Parts: sequence; structure tokens; C-alpha cells
Amino acid sequence: MKLYFASGNAHKAAELQGLATVERLAVEIVSVRAVGGMPPVVEDAGTFVGNARKKARALKTKLPAEAWALADDSGLCVDALDGAPGVESAYYAGAQSDGAANLRKLVETMRGVPEAKRGAHFVCVLLLAGPVGKELVFEGRCDGRLLDEPRGGAGFGYDPLFVPAGNERSFAELADEVKAKLSHRARAWAQLAAWVRTRGEQ
Ligand code: IMP
Repeated sequence: MKLYFASGNAHKAAELQGLATVERLAVEIVSVRAVGGMPPVVEDAGTFVGNARKKARALKTKLPAEAWALADDSGLCVDALDGAPGVESAYYAGAQSDGAANLRKLVETMRGVPEAKRGAHFVCVLLLAGPVGKELVFEGRCDGRLLDEPRGGAGFGYDPLFVPAGNERSFAELADEVKAKLSHRARAWAQLAAWVRTRGEQ
């Protein structure tokens, strides 16, 4: 099954393809580049599901009617910041900001916040948009806490600051295979994979 992925983020696409391969799921993640890109999307729906839906529907306009579009919307919700940056995670330090600037801003914002109040969780929504308006939503969450300073060089975004529950190392210090088992994206993906398998058995 081909899933056309409505994101230019090569890290996310690689993580998803890695998950499919590890699980021997007959899914191919196809980049938007293969269909000449997709119309720009303003991520202003205010919810992860709403933003994912906007992206999937935008990509769908570029695909044959029977094709499946896959969109992802994800972010980091920090307890001490009432859930921020949340759906704004990609733009936390401003509209033109990159992952490094967002990470710096979070480090500064959280400076001095005590250990007991450094709880946070990642959320990932995967949304499939298929034929005849069919849409399916899969949601995953990964709880953890924030370090005082970034640690590790792997991954992307807020990975160097986030330690998943039950671990001592940040996402950016953990091997890809370990993050691939624990992450919010992996948990949403596990549900999507279960749906793909059920579909194959029909
Ligand atoms: P979007 O889903 O493309 O709107 O952006 C999600 C943003 O949340 C990314 O730009 C990252 O800043 C952050 N994010 C989402 N998932 C992860 C992750 O697995 N590790 C680190 N940061 C993430």
C-alpha cells in the first residue's frame, strides 16, 4: 500500500518508513516530491487533528481519487507552560524559526523551573485521507520530562531536551531503534499499522 506523505520533513518520513520496515508492513511512504509537491497549508486549525486534516486534504487534491494521503501533525506539550508550545511547536520562536531556535527558546523559558515541574509530552496525530472522503485518525503520546540543557546529537527538534519516562537519556541520545519503539509517532503508527493489517485480511 502506498501512502503519500504530506510533509517535506525528511526526518519524519524516514522515521515512518523505518517503522513500516521494522514491522514488515507492506507500506511505502512516498514523498510529496514524487507528485511535484503540494499546495501550501497554513497550520492554523488550533488542534493536531485539525492541522493534520488540512495537510492531508491539500495533498489529496494532487492525487488520483483512489490514492491515500498520510499527514502528520505533532508537537511538544509542556505542563509548566499550560501545554505550550503544542500545535505551535514548529513556530515557537517565530514564523521563520528553525528547530535550533525553537529549542533555544524552550531552554530559556524553562530556565529555573524545578525538576518536579518539568513534565512534558509529545503528541503525534497521523491522519489518513482515502477514497470517497474516508478519513482515519490515529493518535500517539509519549510522556517524559525536560532537561535543563540539551543533550545528544541525534533526532531533530526538541529531542535533545526531552527524556522519555523510564529513561535517563534524551531522545537525541537514544539510538534510532529505541526512539522508534517509544515515541509518540511510533505509538500512533502502531495503530495505523493495525488498521493496515486488518484491511489486508479483508
Ligand atoms: P509539525 O508536525 O510539522 O507541525 O511540527 C511539529 C514540530 O514539533 C516539529 O517541528 C518539532 O519542533 C516538534 N516535534 C514533533 N515531533 C518531534 C520529535 O519526535 N522530536 C522532536 N521534536 C518534535
